Amino acid sequence: MIIALNNKSNLNKEEFDSYQEEFSKLSTEHPMIMCPTHLNIANFSLKNCSLGAQNVSKNDKGAHTGEVSATDLASYNVKYCIVGHSERRQELGETDEEINQKLKKLFQAGITPILCCGETREEREQNKVVDVITNEITKDTEGLTNEEKATLIVAYEPIWSIGTGLIPTNDEIEEVLQLIKSLLPESKILYGGSANEKNIEELKKCPTIDGYLLGGLSLKPNTLKEFIEKL
Ligand code: 13P
Repeated sequence: MIIALNNKSNLNKEEFDSYQEEFSKLSTEHPMIMCPTHLNIANFSLKNCSLGAQNVSKNDKGAHTGEVSATDLASYNVKYCIVGHSERRQELGETDEEINQKLKKLFQAGITPILCCGETREEREQNKVVDVITNEITKDTEGLTNEEKATLIVAYEPIWSIGTGLIPTNDEIEEVLQLIKSLLPESKILYGGSANEKNIEELKKCPTIDGYLLGGLSLKPNTLKEFIEKL
C-alpha cells in the first residue's frame, strides 16, 4: 500500500523540524511519500519516506513570478507531485487544461504525478459521478503516452469527504475505482478523504485501493502510526 501524505498549507519551519523528528521514528514496509509545503521541501531530511510536492508550475523556469518549475522540484530530489487537488481546482480555478500541462512538465522532469479527481456532494446526489470522473481523467491525461499513463498515480478524493469525517461506502469507492481502472488500467489508485485510524479497518476491505492520500492524519505521526499498523 502506498501512503501519500499531504501536509497542505501547514507546518512552519520550526514546526516542520519537530515534526520530522517525530516522523523519523515511524517504520513500515509500506512506501510513504511526504508532500510538505514548497518551503519545507528545502528543509526535508527524512530517510523513511520519499519526497513529494503539492503543486508545480505549468511552465518551464523563467518569467513566471511565484511559480516553482518541475525541473526546480527535481533538483531538490522531489520524486512525486500532487496535481489537480480539489482545493486548487476550487479555490484557484485550476483547469483540466492546466493540470494536463503540469502532468507533462512533471514527466519531462522525471517526477511521478499524483493526479487528484473527485466529485462534489451535489454532483453525487445528481448521479453525475461517472461523468465528472471520466471528464477529469480524460482531459487531464490527454496526449500522455501509454508508459506515462501507466506510471501516473491517481487519487480518488470525493470533495465532500475531504476534512469532513464523511466517507463513501466501500461499494461507492469501488464503483469509482473500477471506472478509473477502465480508463487507466495500469495506474495505481489511492483513496483520499477523511481516511483515519478508525475507518481504515473498513476501507481496507476495498480490493482496488492501492494506497491512501492522507491530509489531516499526515500532521499527526502518532495517529498515523496506528493507521499504518492496521493497514
Ligand atoms: P483529509 O485526510 O484531511 O480529509 O484530506 C484529504 C486530502 O485532501 C488529501 O489530499
